[in-house]
Amino acid sequence: MVSMDLSVRIGSLELKNPVMTASGTFGYGEEYAEFLDLSRLGAVVVKGLSLLPKEGNPPPRIVETASGMLNAIGLQNIGIQRFIDEKIPFLRTYDTKVIVNFFGDSIEEYVAAAERLSSVEGIHGLEMNISCPNKQAGWCIFGTDPRVTTEVVGAVRKATKLPLIVKLSPNVTDISLMAKVAEDAGADALSVINTLTGMVIDIKTRRPKLANRTGGLSGPAIKPVAVRMVYEVFKAVKVPVIGMGGIMHGDDAIEFLLAGATAVAVGTANFVNPNATIDILDGIMAYMKDGKVEDINLLRGAAHAI
Ligand SMILES: Cc1cc2nc3c(=O)[nH]c(=O)nc-3n(C[C@H](O)[C@H](O)[C@H](O)COP(=O)(O)O)c2cc1C
Repeated sequence: MVSMDLSVRIGSLELKNPVMTASGTFGYGEEYAEFLDLSRLGAVVVKGLSLLPKEGNPPPRIVETASGMLNAIGLQNIGIQRFIDEKIPFLRTYDTKVIVNFFGDSIEEYVAAAERLSSVEGIHGLEMNISCPNKQAGWCIFGTDPRVTTEVVGAVRKATKLPLIVKLSPNVTDISLMAKVAEDAGADALSVINTLTGMVIDIKTRRPKLANRTGGLSGPAIKPVAVRMVYEVFKAVKVPVIGMGGIMHGDDAIEFLLAGATAVAVGTANFVNPNATIDILDGIMAYMKDGKVEDINLLRGAAHAI
């Protein structure tokens, strides 16, 4: 039996393996604890938090599509204080890294959220969501305007010593430009990608199915776009890339690693199969065993070789 090294580094953060959960699809961890051993995961990334609780958008806010789903949850969450009081004590009992996804409505809110989270024991890293596709009728300037991205990432960088992951929006013309901007402003790693803005129309009512009209498309439908973006971002930056978008099986995760991802996050698949993260981890290990790959880091970016 060949020994296998699955550990990866995201800045100063060492993960036992590259499989993470994607924010917003795994609750605050406890929702899935009866289905799988959270300690097997490289990291748990929790649902996006804001300083104050948020109700989110009115229903309907989820629609199924041919090969994925469209959501307009509107960043509903319990707020940072309740997370600290009620959720972190539970997560601390597991041997996994906890990464907190957060967002704000202004640069000041981003900074205040990062500061508040940085002093909490049991939080190992921060992922800042500058994508927020459901805000302001499908537009969010934080992650689509390079100047604002520089400003908000730079301000958060000064506010925290924790590893800082910036989650990029795919709803831009040139993702490698946004990646470079985030790296230059101090990101330790980049998450690629958030959901793609889409719409579904009910042909009976002749109205968009989501109350918000538009939503974020996720699942297998977006995988080829996500793989292409990870490939482009890997070429553009030096910091690690966390790949996500439509990963349902181990082989999907391998594709992202070959495109240049250091780690992967599993989102929509959790709704189909609550044990998806572990099945994907087992799938990665089976691929490595079959190919006699002893260190997972040898797979990173292999698709770039001429
Ligand atoms: C219902 C739902 C809620 C989400 N909430 C968040 C969130 O709060 N913050 C965030 O950065 N991304 C959020 N996302 C995006 C996912 O983390 C992920 O980037 C995206 O869904 C692509 O991965 P997937 O195709 O595996 O789902 C959400 C996605 C879904 C489907």
